[in-house]
Amino acid sequence: MKIAVLCISDSGFAGKREDTSGPLIIEMMKVTAQTTLYKCLPDEQDAISAELVRICDEDHTDIIFTTGGTGLAPRDVTPEATESVVDRLIPGIAEAMRQKSLAITDRAMLSRAVAGVRGETLIINLPGSPKAVKENLETVMPILEHAVELIRDKVKNCATNGSL
Ligand code: MTE
Repeated sequence: MKIAVLCISDSGFAGKREDTSGPLIIEMMKVTAQTTLYKCLPDEQDAISAELVRICDEDHTDIIFTTGGTGLAPRDVTPEATESVVDRLIPGIAEAMRQKSLAITDRAMLSRAVAGVRGETLIINLPGSPKAVKENLETVMPILEHAVELIRDKVKNCATNGSL
């Protein structure tokens, strides 16, 4: 799989804070995926949307992970940027991340993360802290390859594809 990682953070973009969440995603995914793009963007909805569209439509990446900007601060706009570019939302992915995270911290209910598909690319929002990234990514990792195969119409029969 080919993945892209976008750190969404004003301070990360400005070089005032070192992003450790993006590198953690790359490390956690390295057995099954090659990271072809990693960059920081500011918490600007238009800039985030434009980059998501470019990666989906030009790079044909399998999965884009965003980290950060899913909360309640005034500049947290990653979910809005994602919703504005996806063809379809995948509510179950965000539901599962929040459900599992709630067993760890009540603060999980403060993430408005969404997941969806644009063209043949799966986009998943993750919260910003390395701890939250690890916990949320562990939840979705088991379904990623099957999700990518479904999006690319490579699954003829779910029952023979390891889902049962
Ligand atoms: N989910 C898990 N599993 N673990 C966490 O520590 N932190 C929460 C939440 N989700 C957290 C989590 C907190 S404190 C916030 S504010 C929201 O994610 C949003 O984070 P973000 O604004 O960095 O995206």
